[in-house]
Amino acid sequence: MTTSPATAIILGTGLGKLADEITDATRIPYKEIPNFPVSTVEGHSGNLIFGKLGEKDILAMEGRFHYYEGYDMKEVTFPVRVMYELGIKTLFVSNAAGGTNPGFEIGDLMIITDHINALPENPLRGKNFPTGPRFPDMSEAYDKGLIREALGIAREKGIKVQQGVYLATQGPTFETPAEYKMFRTWGADAVGMSTVPEVIVANHCGIKCFGVSVITDLGVEGKIVEVSHEEVQKAADAVQPLMADIMREMINRA
Ligand code: HPA
Repeated sequence: MTTSPATAIILGTGLGKLADEITDATRIPYKEIPNFPVSTVEGHSGNLIFGKLGEKDILAMEGRFHYYEGYDMKEVTFPVRVMYELGIKTLFVSNAAGGTNPGFEIGDLMIITDHINALPENPLRGKNFPTGPRFPDMSEAYDKGLIREALGIAREKGIKVQQGVYLATQGPTFETPAEYKMFRTWGADAVGMSTVPEVIVANHCGIKCFGVSVITDLGVEGKIVEVSHEEVQKAADAVQPLMADIMREMINRA
């Protein structure tokens, strides 16, 4: 069994199938881990996987926790605290998001350059953990070196990628047209319901972060149509191989 991976990956929407590529895998169901929440969303399994992706030792979270499921922010980010204790230095995350940038199309991959926390609570609220300062810096929540590397990999592989700001809402409702418009004026390129809490806590733990969103629907005036979880999943599945290609290579070089 792999014992000391330095790299972790949260297999959110768009990356689930990467779990099948993990070799020498030890799968620990979340329900067997003390204090771990249990995932309730369709399409999100619940296992912590220790194993190898290519030659790299990794720790993968198959399924993540969302605020809208009813967990509090400490529960949502508990796995990142565990990652820190296990010695993780770099965290890769993926998610599905609605594009608010008018230049985006469904099926685009967006490398997250920054985020806006529009969730009702900050996961660091409360007594400060000694992993980081009371008032943590967030000037580079997504590591610039990793972003540069991803852009290089995408170029080499001929994969089209966008870059932009990811805004996290509490969900579970998708946005009204007025909300999409407001988030666009705030500076968001994409809107989703995850990632930001984990990235905040990872930064507080000194863990470098890299994130990619799959644009599964558009929150752009004139292009807004009815959206469902099934459509989001379908759009994400379609670009899954490209997302996996980038992440696999990123992890290989990590
Ligand atoms: N809004 C919020 N979350 C999402 C969306 C969206 O449009 N698409 C996928 N996740």
